[in-house]
Amino acid sequence: MTSQPIRVMFFCLGNICRSPLAEALFRHHVALQGFDDRFEINSSGTSAYHIGEPPDPGSVQIARERLNLDISGQRAQQLSDTHIREYDYLVAMDRSNLANAESLQGAGEANLLLFRDFEPNDAHRGSDVPDPWGGGSSQFEKVYDIVHRCAESLLNRIIETENLS
Ligand code: 4NP
Repeated sequence: MTSQPIRVMFFCLGNICRSPLAEALFRHHVALQGFDDRFEINSSGTSAYHIGEPPDPGSVQIARERLNLDISGQRAQQLSDTHIREYDYLVAMDRSNLANAESLQGAGEANLLLFRDFEPNDAHRGSDVPDPWGGGSSQFEKVYDIVHRCAESLLNRIIETENLS
């Protein structure tokens, strides 16, 4: 019997800068640990501002530079009540995204999490992944570093929680 995939949804405001990187880097860590077939990984935004658009050029560039990952095929979507119901882990990039998601139907029963609560260094826990939209490459570099380490640490937590082996 094949088990149900573990469904993980990353979300930010626009789904063009931070959460597309989180989706790609989490998938990267999942692949490194050999769990590709155990996960369904997605991303979205709490706003409708950029529905259907590809990721921001800053996010596309940093993913290519650092890991040779092509994220340009992703398309922005809005976080919905259905996502809230269907995903096992719903991970907000910042506290304002989290507050927005908490107002969606079914949020009371959902596993809504803040990404930086998984920071390896507890001094950073509870912080926001800073919004790099409209910023220069140094902002995207900073976001990349945060997302890279939190994605790895979140995955390790899920591996433990779900008893993956
Ligand atoms: P994201 O960045 O939430 O990381 O995708 C943003 C993208 C667009 C806007 C704000 C943040 N916006 O206001 O359109």
